[in-house]
Amino acid sequence: MNISVISHKISDPHETIAVPYIDTLLHERRSVRAFTNTDVSISQVRAILGAASRAPSGGNMQPWHVWIADRPAIARIEHAILSTGVSPHRAKWDDYRYYPKRFFGAYDVRRKALGRALYGHLGIERHDVPAMRAQFEQNFRFFGAPVGLLVTIDRRLEKGSWLDMGMFLQNICLAAQGRGLATCVQAAFAPYHKVIRPIANLPDDQVLVCGISLGCEDRAHATNALRTERADMREWVSMIRSDRTHVSPPQKETQINPSRTSDR
Ligand SMILES: Cc1cc2nc3c(=O)[nH]c(=O)nc-3n(C[C@H](O)[C@H](O)[C@H](O)COP(=O)(O)O)c2cc1C
Repeated sequence: MNISVISHKISDPHETIAVPYIDTLLHERRSVRAFTNTDVSISQVRAILGAASRAPSGGNMQPWHVWIADRPAIARIEHAILSTGVSPHRAKWDDYRYYPKRFFGAYDVRRKALGRALYGHLGIERHDVPAMRAQFEQNFRFFGAPVGLLVTIDRRLEKGSWLDMGMFLQNICLAAQGRGLATCVQAAFAPYHKVIRPIANLPDDQVLVCGISLGCEDRAHATNALRTERADMREWVSMIRSDRTHVSPPQKETQINPSRTSDR
């Protein structure tokens, strides 16, 4: 797809926004876990972050802070994390918890499916724990990306601001995608915040939410052949009926609000 042809003005609120283009970005974005050596310029990073900052946020509080790591900083972060000797499955989520203490139900099924698919693409057998760990450790070098972003939030803020943060993170991914760049959002850094803090000089009042790898996808790498699936919409969309029972939205084209004579 030639992105430059599709670029469109959005300053005029009446101008139609090219919905298929944003859908294309949404469908094409995926987590990339191997990058080429190609550099990303600081102006590209600024442009991505500037676009991402158009994310909505409650009260327009814009509760995000981004810390940019270049290759030397990435190397220092990787070295510090690996030097702890604390393997990821033992690392303590002592600043915030990303996952529940126990996985359950459909969430557990989907998480395991991802693990199988990811390691399957890499030819790593189910019980080959050292190989799985080695792959997981790629997180800490930002999967070879030239730029690593550390994203933090003021610890005094509430869940609402974390929602805003999610919107901002997705915007970063899409703004990068629209420029032909790839990303991987990584919570893997969070349990190592104590060793990252002094390297990045992160203030104590900031919680390290995640890292983001940013760069050019290494299309030849097996890990990047992974395409994750999504649950069928029937699993997570329900229409509320007047008797308060739920049904899946009908697949055939019907009016969501069929016109009623009493409305007229
Ligand atoms: C907040 C957040 C944290 C994530 N942390 C990691 C991570 O630490 N390492 C990793 O390889 N992928 C991480 N991912 C990527 C997810 O595994 C990925 O989004 C999911 O499997 C869906 O695949 P897709 O992004 O390719 O569509 C994270 C994603 C999100 C949104």
